[in-house]
Amino acid sequence: MNNSCLILFLALFIPIFVCSEDSEDGIFLARITSVDEHDARKIGRRHGFEAVRKLQSFSDVYIGRRLRRRKRGIEDEILAEMIFSEQIQFIEKLYRFRRFKRAPMMNNGALIHVWNLTPSMMIREAWEAGYNASRVTVAVVDDGVDVGHVDLRSAFSPRVSFDFVKFGSLPIPTISKETQHGTQCAGLVSMEGNQCGLGVGHGATLGAIRLLGQDELNDALEGDALAFEKDLIDIYSVSWGPKDDGLTAEKPAKFTQDAIKNGAVFGRNGKGNIFVWASGNGGENGDNCALDGYVSNEYTISFGVISSSGVPSAYAEGCSAVLAAVSGGDSMIQTTGLESTCSSISGSSASAAIASGIIALALEANPALSQRDIQHLIVHSSNSSAVKIQFQTNSAGLKFHPSVGFGLLDAKTLVEKAATWQLVDPQKTCSRIQLTSGSIDFSDCQEISRIERVILTGSICHPHRGKVRILLESPRGTESELLAVRPSDTSPDLLEWDFVSVHFWGEAPRGIWKLKVESEEELERREDFRVKMKEFKITGI
Ligand SMILES: *[C@@H]1O[C@H](CO)[C@@H](O)[C@H](O)[C@H]1NC(C)=O
Ligand SMILES: *[C@@H]1O[C@H](CO)[C@@H](O)[C@H](O)[C@H]1NC(C)=O
Repeated sequence: MNNSCLILFLALFIPIFVCSEDSEDGIFLARITSVDEHDARKIGRRHGFEAVRKLQSFSDVYIGRRLRRRKRGIEDEILAEMIFSEQIQFIEKLYRFRRFKRAPMMNNGALIHVWNLTPSMMIREAWEAGYNASRVTVAVVDDGVDVGHVDLRSAFSPRVSFDFVKFGSLPIPTISKETQHGTQCAGLVSMEGNQCGLGVGHGATLGAIRLLGQDELNDALEGDALAFEKDLIDIYSVSWGPKDDGLTAEKPAKFTQDAIKNGAVFGRNGKGNIFVWASGNGGENGDNCALDGYVSNEYTISFGVISSSGVPSAYAEGCSAVLAAVSGGDSMIQTTGLESTCSSISGSSASAAIASGIIALALEANPALSQRDIQHLIVHSSNSSAVKIQFQTNSAGLKFHPSVGFGLLDAKTLVEKAATWQLVDPQKTCSRIQLTSGSIDFSDCQEISRIERVILTGSICHPHRGKVRILLESPRGTESELLAVRPSDTSPDLLEWDFVSVHFWGEAPRGIWKLKVESEEELERREDFRVKMKEFKITGI
């Protein structure tokens, strides 16, 4: 049995509970169903909670405050509320956390327009084919947008915009050098060419969702923002995440993860929202996006970044969840700035915005595309020849690399393929739970003939989790690194983590999969290094 694992878990958790008794705000999130707001507030009061406000994007989820302190442990209290209330479906204590923008400082060289970046992403060629992303809605979830900017104001739509910092006002940032980020990302997506140039999807409707700009976030704010108007918004463009310091391992908390999943599966009236994520700027800190649970996520699509010489930018983070790459990593790309100025941006932040614009062109070419169709199209249209790197090839003949996925986005090929694309069949899954060995038999996975993603969920007990590496080999002999070592990460353990790989795309899953978990460090006691894999899931068609 996993005794040492258990001891580690307890040692890790007890101090947190003790601390939180003193420092917590007593703020909770609760879903209270089958009643109106008035009755929901009454039910809350009866259970000792005062409803502070209802969430924006959910009709039955409330933020509440504990009315009085109780002697009992908080976990008992939550359990009791759930057991004894029929209407309270879900209750979660909210913890505060921070999220960071993914734009590195770049002040070398001349400004360049996004369509002139090299190697070419064929953006101008896609425009010439007749596309500008009109009738597609892209929301930039960030620190607000200067929505009155001469290049943004006609694209901006209040209907798909919201301020989750100030509530109720236009999502405009307070003016400072630190708050240009959202405006810069929005420009790359939808600038209209009056002053600073054209955005990649300059015909798109622009949503501005202001979420960053408050000191601390919580699961309720984040999940609420990422679920906002999910039937009207096609693409959520996200250029931030946990700190890229090579030490942090954070993932979306439960409510946000459910919001992302729910959007990717049911949003856009069933076609699925497209959550575009920047893979991160921590490359020079030895960071790896496998340790970022927003990138290493079954339901988001992440992009790396390459420089003009065609190699991955030094700061770019790679991992097995990266689907493709964008160029411009070492360029100052011209975009909109605050107070009707122009400015420049680069980095992983720019890559998510550019990728969102390119995907928006594909959705104009074919509005029926599902979130999964978009992924198939990216896999089959990205250009690996444009990236100067040693690729591996999987048994479906696709070239991949953790830094750039299947290669550089090619807007022209993407829109052309999108226009005549045959929609993929509904997704199938095969899974195994409670794995007991590194050899996993999927011989009877008949329902899938072509893999989309592979998701391994598990926990690692190790005194220095940065020393652990996980490799997965498919029955066809393709090897994907699910977890790379992070030299400076000396924290212990990684618990309940999802490792996601797109590297087996198109392969047949039948046969024996081999999982290797290695530690760089010689440990004195074998019990210090334990692995418990809870689920291994393959999705595909
Ligand atoms: C986008 O293209 C449409 C035609 O498909 C055109 O009507 C519209 O004016 C264009 N929008 C911009 C901002 O260029
Ligand atoms: C892929 O990139 C290479 C190098 O930039 C380029 O020569 C080639 O034309 C591109 N292929 C396509 C299909 O655009």
